[in-house]
Amino acid sequence: MKISLIAAIDEKRGLGKGNELLWRIPEDLKNFKKMTMGHCVLLGRKTYQSIGRALPGRTLLVLTKKESLELPEGVVKVSSVKEALEIARGKGDNELMVAGGAEVYNELLPIAETLYLTRIHGTKEADVFFPTFKNESWELSSETFHPLKGQVPPWTFQVLNRRV
Ligand SMILES: NC(=O)c1ccc[n+]([C@@H]2O[C@H](COP(=O)([O-])OP(=O)(O)OC[C@H]3O[C@@H](n4cnc5c(N)ncnc54)[C@H](OP(=O)(O)O)[C@@H]3O)[C@@H](O)[C@H]2O)c1
Repeated sequence: MKISLIAAIDEKRGLGKGNELLWRIPEDLKNFKKMTMGHCVLLGRKTYQSIGRALPGRTLLVLTKKESLELPEGVVKVSSVKEALEIARGKGDNELMVAGGAEVYNELLPIAETLYLTRIHGTKEADVFFPTFKNESWELSSETFHPLKGQVPPWTFQVLNRRV
């Protein structure tokens, strides 16, 4: 099972503040939908609560130690990464998409094969950050630049694969 991280990070690796995203880039959100469609999506409980709903066409696996978390159909509680991988395998998924937040990226980065990174060319004050990673351990497979558009800052979508 391939494990991939998908994240939008700014120039200081900022991910969010006050349990919300720093930026809302409509085209990037569409791309997130396309990239995750049909897959199991692993999220931390805090990120799930900031989304607050199921995402059509995807099974959300929510990591939590809490016993009493009410979840709608299409959202499954998992108490470990191992359990998440077992569920994803059981569903015949070939790529687990890890969608944050900071705590979950930090746990999964060491075993991830691919990073789908939206690199926002700007910074905002953040209270959670994507973990540091060694550039030399990752090979850039593709990148697409999106110029400034109205209120939306310029951003680059990168696909990075772990060097073997
Ligand atoms: N820019 C982006 O691409 C992006 C993507 C996602 C999220 N975000 C932002 O990131 C922030 C949230 O990130 P965060 O680091 O605060 O929280 P998080 O990673 O979303 O959730 C942390 C919670 O996940 C559960 N958890 C984590 N590892 C676990 C494990 N191994 N076993 C069981 N449960 C585990 C725990 O839940 P319990 O406390 O319930 O046990 C923990 O408190 C928000 O601001 C959000 O908007 C940004």
